[in-house]
Amino acid sequence: MSIKTREQKAAMRIRIDYNNMMEKFLGDKGFSDAQLKAMRPEAEKAYAFVKENRGRDDLFMGWTELPYNQKEIVADILATARDVRKNFDNFVVLGIGGSALGPLMVFNALCHLHYNELPKKVRKGPKFYVEDNVDPVRMHDLLDVIDPTKTCFNVISKSGATSETMTQYLIISEILKNAGVDIAKNVIFTTDGARGNLIKIDKALGGTVKKYVLPDGVGGRFSELSPVGLLPAAVLGLDIRAMLSGAAYMDNMCRSKDMAKNPALTCAVLQTLAMQNGKNIGVMMPYSDNLKLMADWYCQLWAESLGKNVTNDGKPCNVGQTPVKSLGVTDQHSQVQLYTEGPYDKVVTFISVDSYQEKMEIPQGFGCDDIPDVSFLTGHTMEELIQAENKATAYALMQAGRQNYTIYLPEVNEFTLGQLMFLFELQTAYAGAMLNIDTFNQPGVEAGKKATFALLGKKGYEAKKAELDSAPALEEKYTV
Ligand code: PA5
Repeated sequence: MSIKTREQKAAMRIRIDYNNMMEKFLGDKGFSDAQLKAMRPEAEKAYAFVKENRGRDDLFMGWTELPYNQKEIVADILATARDVRKNFDNFVVLGIGGSALGPLMVFNALCHLHYNELPKKVRKGPKFYVEDNVDPVRMHDLLDVIDPTKTCFNVISKSGATSETMTQYLIISEILKNAGVDIAKNVIFTTDGARGNLIKIDKALGGTVKKYVLPDGVGGRFSELSPVGLLPAAVLGLDIRAMLSGAAYMDNMCRSKDMAKNPALTCAVLQTLAMQNGKNIGVMMPYSDNLKLMADWYCQLWAESLGKNVTNDGKPCNVGQTPVKSLGVTDQHSQVQLYTEGPYDKVVTFISVDSYQEKMEIPQGFGCDDIPDVSFLTGHTMEELIQAENKATAYALMQAGRQNYTIYLPEVNEFTLGQLMFLFELQTAYAGAMLNIDTFNQPGVEAGKKATFALLGKKGYEAKKAELDSAPALEEKYTV
């Protein structure tokens, strides 16, 4: 369905219900109106920070403009995607972190859940894989199911220096070379505009590789609406313009300093206040298999952005909220016991869907007519069941004094997914501003990267290697 008119967009608007965060429903375990009111100055400051710095590359805030400034890039991506869909059997993303979680999330959200197993004439596009690890078994097994010569590899790395992605590239380019294939024919790079090793590799290949630019002011985890996510989505035949339009729609809904009129600011205030009140764990629980990987994507965004040890004024701090991914209803039978009766250290965000793509009636079945425990299900739909379980879990948590709120998606489509991504990105930027930290760096990730370089003998990391070697010797008594 096309979502173009004002009415169509309004019908697809995401809503947020945070009643279960409030004292009216939770007693002294909830927030009072006065507590929310007291957050106003902080919220307004955070809003002003984001507003004033929109689009600034030096602050890594270029992502705010992605819904608006990619007209030509989108046209180019759609043309490339058409070629890829016509000429290749497989499309493989090589990347990690912000370069992989977005493409995975969109694939999971908007494609058939068994897409790769569908016949080609139903799929209409290539099989799709995102390789975001360096587990040798995984690489070996991928090579068992794809023919690299008939595969388009999208190498996504801003720096081109990420060991995982570059290891994958080394393996794949060697295979292509040995098969006598022109590497540039089977490879697309998504990378920094001017710097970075993929640029150098392209030069070595005579400047023949198709390249997409990850703009300067867009960090990995904020890059899904850039070519990082748009090309894979277009190759899957998805409507990337609708995704960007959904993001712009959410952006528009968030143009007020008044949190009551700004959904992202509302969520940021709720989470920040929750953190201030000892809720150090944020559970993201979609009730939709299509949104299972949205929780993964959100976890990186929230964890890497807010987990920091120094404020913007240089003062030591240890802030952040541990995001936990959970899936409704599956994890009702795994984690919800803990959420309901364990420590009061969590806030649960549900993502609910008003209308699923399929309803699936529950039939009479066989042999169950006289078993009331089972027969009550007959005549309902699976959609009704999952929605009832969602509501029931939110209610049970509320009854137990556990804070939770729900983000409602009218349905899962490109437009609502674009809204949801932008909601989370803005929420993260506001929350980081309220915590007074640099939301957009990731020194903790860099530290691990550097230690890996040292362990594998990279030139220039001798001092780091010496530091690692000088760690105390392992004590036998601490091994069992
Ligand atoms: O969000 C981030 O910045 C990181 O997760 C990066 O995306 C990740 O480390 C990969 O980096 P690069 O794109 O340079 O390969």
